Amino acid sequence: MVLDILNKKRNGEELEYKELDYFFNGYLSGDIKDYQMSSLLMAMCINGLTDEEIFCLTKIFVDSGDVLDFSKDVGVLVDKHSTGGIGDKTTLIIAPIVASCGVKVVKMSGKGLGYTGGTIDKLESIPGYNVKLTEKEIIKQVKDIGVVITSQTKNLVPMDKAIYSLRDVTGTVSSIGLIASSIMSKKIASGADKIVIDLKVGDGALINNMEDAKKLEEMMIKIGKIYNREVSVIINDMNTPLGYNIGNALEVLEAIDVLQGKEKDTHLVDVCFELASQMISMGKGISKREALKEVIDSIDSGRAYDKFVELVTRQGGDLSKIKIAKKTKNIRAYKSGTIKVIDALEIGKLSVKLGAGKEKLDDKIDYGVGIKLNKQLGDKVRKGELLATLYVNGDVKINNIKEMFKIN
Ligand code: URA
Repeated sequence: MVLDILNKKRNGEELEYKELDYFFNGYLSGDIKDYQMSSLLMAMCINGLTDEEIFCLTKIFVDSGDVLDFSKDVGVLVDKHSTGGIGDKTTLIIAPIVASCGVKVVKMSGKGLGYTGGTIDKLESIPGYNVKLTEKEIIKQVKDIGVVITSQTKNLVPMDKAIYSLRDVTGTVSSIGLIASSIMSKKIASGADKIVIDLKVGDGALINNMEDAKKLEEMMIKIGKIYNREVSVIINDMNTPLGYNIGNALEVLEAIDVLQGKEKDTHLVDVCFELASQMISMGKGISKREALKEVIDSIDSGRAYDKFVELVTRQGGDLSKIKIAKKTKNIRAYKSGTIKVIDALEIGKLSVKLGAGKEKLDDKIDYGVGIKLNKQLGDKVRKGELLATLYVNGDVKINNIKEMFKIN
């Protein structure tokens, strides 16, 4: 049966529900081995998945664990999900903004995938922050302060937890069908009524071109309809890292700068404001323009930052104890000109090399390392000027500066 299914998918044929169910649930119970599942995932990546296969997979994923329903305790919940990017700290910024505007947020986040960092890794860089709240604690916290950011509860889509880590290390992340069923199963199971998807497209994202982005958008909306969830997709560029800082603790510090209104008019701020406005608009049933005014006011008045501090403190975190690696290494401009490219993928690879993400399943993350960009796309530089500072533990050799920063 296992080989029949593998051969069928390798030959580009459509798998039926019972075959997918047998294979995936067999993997979860340990009967199907890592190498067999890796082989199926690779065949899915290469040959693609039909709509019907994606709907079946989503159902298998959702049914693999608990399906939460917060509506009777806390009312309508609006959630957002990012498909992941380099320097993407949007959740840390958006969740407190939206909550400070009176829309409740229960955000169940994940760990890094491929070269993209995960919100949970970023939060774990705050000493004491508890990323493992129980369902009871989530309900109590969202009732008390209107916002929670935690990992998925233990039995929430266990299938995705298992498959996600295998995909991360087997080159099987970039499949529209696998991404759609992974994201949507988690959103459906975590009880979100309205869902905003931040779909990143570009070299530093899981999806590299607009055609695939549109297909993924369409697929997630279709899945949402089946489960009666309102889904809004916003497509954002990810050819360039988002913001200045890449690396877990460094990204928390940049999120604080944005929440305190110290970082303005960057692409990161634009993306956060757009996503937060969409969530508030859906949550309150107001126009996006009105919602944007509320977002700006939440920053200017200090309410958004206060909400972030309240969130971190409530989950046991101590912002004063965040540590950044002490050793630094500077990257300087190799010629004068204008910065035409800051390559998100190359920067993402470098951050993983420094230890901010994982290359193998059992690698440990170093929360204090990362990259602080000193320039943004389009900035003019003189030869020898500082492009970026690396925060490192140990030695690091960099021989691809010209690929990371293209200057013309
Ligand atoms: N985010 C997810 O949750 N799953 C994916 O497969 C990709 C991004």
